[in-house]
Amino acid sequence: MIQVAVMGYGTVGSGVVEVIEKNKEEINKKCGAGEAVNIKYILDLRDFPGDPYESKVIHDVEQILNDPEVKIICETMGGLKPAYDFTKRALMLGKSVCTSNKELVAAHGPELIRIAHENQCNYLFEASVGGGIPIIRPLNYSLTAEKIDAITGILNGTTNYILSRMEKEGADFADVLKDAQEKGYAERNPEADVEGYDACRKIAILSSLMCGKNVRYQDIYTEGITKITSTDFIYAHAMGKTIKLLALSREEKGKFYAMVAPFLISKSHPLYMVNDVFNAVCVHGNMLGDSMYYGRGAGKLPTASAVVSDVVDCARHIGKVIMCFWDGQDVALTGIGEASHRFFVRVSLENERKALEAFERASVIEADVPGEFAFVTEKMTEEEFNKRALEAGIISRIRLNE
Ligand code: HSE
Repeated sequence: MIQVAVMGYGTVGSGVVEVIEKNKEEINKKCGAGEAVNIKYILDLRDFPGDPYESKVIHDVEQILNDPEVKIICETMGGLKPAYDFTKRALMLGKSVCTSNKELVAAHGPELIRIAHENQCNYLFEASVGGGIPIIRPLNYSLTAEKIDAITGILNGTTNYILSRMEKEGADFADVLKDAQEKGYAERNPEADVEGYDACRKIAILSSLMCGKNVRYQDIYTEGITKITSTDFIYAHAMGKTIKLLALSREEKGKFYAMVAPFLISKSHPLYMVNDVFNAVCVHGNMLGDSMYYGRGAGKLPTASAVVSDVVDCARHIGKVIMCFWDGQDVALTGIGEASHRFFVRVSLENERKALEAFERASVIEADVPGEFAFVTEKMTEEEFNKRALEAGIISRIRLNE
């Protein structure tokens, strides 16, 4: 028996138990050791009377940590406290930890990986980015012959759902958010999603794996979708484009930058068709070119499936280290002032002349929006754009990803 403990019996934790129970034949076969995976403990503050796994529910983490039979722990608690402390202690005791906790991975990934390896066990986090989409394992084990120079993703299901509905219905952000909250698709406190903080942590993890060093999420320029309006979508339609919250990182000529922001993308962009709660990640390697990973980026069973895939990996490698190149040394990110894009700009009609003086080679966008003048600039750095925008009296701007 390979004894497993689940810490946190919420949406993802209960999904982990369900996946292991439903697919036990498949999972046991794939663990390859001729041994079955068994959930020995479920740690939670609450009791679950009537739950089929009620007898496994415990409230004291020491029971898990002091049990030498437990070799693998699924950390599905979320947040930094007490997950960081529990994880660290488990790894120091040689117990592998599989997690969906992007906050913890983004904040302490390299330290926890190092502690795991010093203790001949593993800290795996496939479920922390893109829910059920395999993206960590491809970066770690599949694309090992590549120098990856660009990652572009839709990494947040909530905002993609909101933007998809704004596009289809011509509705405003606040109305769609309210409806999504009522239907349970968006959190009651939606800040982490709509302000881009969730996508920021996820691109920090992917960027770190891309360059093998630590990309601090605190250093990533992050802009959410709260300022996107139904009028922006009128213009997007007129241009044959849509608006997506993209998380991206780029390495260009030894310089590295990462950002999260809404972008206009055209119909030929690989992420154009990624709608509703789906996520997708485009990875560019110098030999392979583009590859794309698509699927359900959130939800109980897709996320749990990714956690359990890590359990299988740990079971196959009991007492052995699975390589993961994520050094603790921080990457000095280039400020996004140096990043170049074309920008879509809206100004009020009275500022048309001023705007055209500030942006000489602008392509005018015709759309049915009274009292406004809109255009797309030529490609320029963020710094250059901000300088010119000061003189143009702009209403808003959205970057283009091409
Ligand atoms: N709030 C996240 C999302 C959940 O909407 O994508 C998955 O990390």
